[in-house]
Amino acid sequence: MKITEIAEGIHYVGVNDRCTHKFENLWPLPYGVSYNAYLITDEKNVLVDTVEASYTDRLLDQIADVIGDRPIDYLVINHMEPDHSASIRFIRQKYPHITLVGNAKTLDMVKGYYGIDDNTLCIKNGDTLNVGRHTLSFHLTPMVHWPETMMTYCHETRTLFSGDAFGCFGTLDGGIKDTQLNTEKYWGEMVRYYSNIVGKYGPAVQTALKKLAGIDIQTICSTHGPVWEQEVNRVIDIYDRLSRYEAEPGVVIAYGSMYGHTEQMAEEIARELAANGVENIVMHNVSHDDPSFILQSIFRYRGLIIGSPTYSNRLYPAVETLTQMIATREVKHRTFGYFGSFTWAGAAVKHLSAFAESMKWDTLPCCIEMKQSITPEIKDLCKAMAREMASRMNA
Ligand code: FEO
Repeated sequence: MKITEIAEGIHYVGVNDRCTHKFENLWPLPYGVSYNAYLITDEKNVLVDTVEASYTDRLLDQIADVIGDRPIDYLVINHMEPDHSASIRFIRQKYPHITLVGNAKTLDMVKGYYGIDDNTLCIKNGDTLNVGRHTLSFHLTPMVHWPETMMTYCHETRTLFSGDAFGCFGTLDGGIKDTQLNTEKYWGEMVRYYSNIVGKYGPAVQTALKKLAGIDIQTICSTHGPVWEQEVNRVIDIYDRLSRYEAEPGVVIAYGSMYGHTEQMAEEIARELAANGVENIVMHNVSHDDPSFILQSIFRYRGLIIGSPTYSNRLYPAVETLTQMIATREVKHRTFGYFGSFTWAGAAVKHLSAFAESMKWDTLPCCIEMKQSITPEIKDLCKAMAREMASRMNA
């Protein structure tokens, strides 16, 4: 059996992207990303999802490697975001008799994006499609990550084609399954992928997980990252915890600082956290670190402290962006502290206080507002905040 045949009659035909700098033109890709597509060969051949437009040729080559000149009968579209759907028009040109399979929302988007509205099969939740030795059932999982998203389950091989769910950044270097790869890089990239892309849709992920609870899953074929076989339970557990906003003990300190004064407050807090037994402390200078990585840390750890100078009577711009990103993702269950600084008129602390209130978090009672530069009194307040945070982390 070729390495690309991941189960009986199921072939990996996806691609690796090591060229794109930012996924969705937003999120850095230090390890690249894979766009996974799968071909089921049977009496009827079925393609599950496609790839990003610039990789269409490679997708078509890989399909031809498996089935030669034989046709594809169905294209199952689990997700319409163009990193998976962009090749649909080309697939239709090469396989003009192919039937596009999706739910009503999918097919509406197929028409909107690609102008195609014929040779389609509109399925409802729970519908099945037998293609020979393989029987596929369709499970609607809206908002994981778009409204049309669904998953497809192959009963005979107990394989779940899960769309974006259970996905992660990182290319597939050689191997395809988790058993064939060193999976170390994927775990952090899974948290970053989830927090960046799916993070807003925690309740939808929870609904999907409940829907999948009765299904016997041996293999997960996501649209990004390894095919999960050995680590199925771990991967489901990670998505379960992230979508409940459950986090580990540890504190993220995200701060902006123009000339280093606000950074000094962050350093004082970090030292005192460590002195009080907090082992996981991650500091992010928001002007230096991409928000993608800061969100990853925030989804990972339970404690969050944000510091900002006052800038044009508002928060420092990069801090303001970060707070918006956190609010957009409706991050829950965090213990929060904040501090700020100003030179002639304070505004940062006022804005961080409003942010804290809007997030409904467990907010530390102490807040620190520094004028111009650090003093022994400000250092004491920083330490007191750190001790309060440490006691809640250690509780
Ligand atoms: Fe990988 Fe939501 O697309």
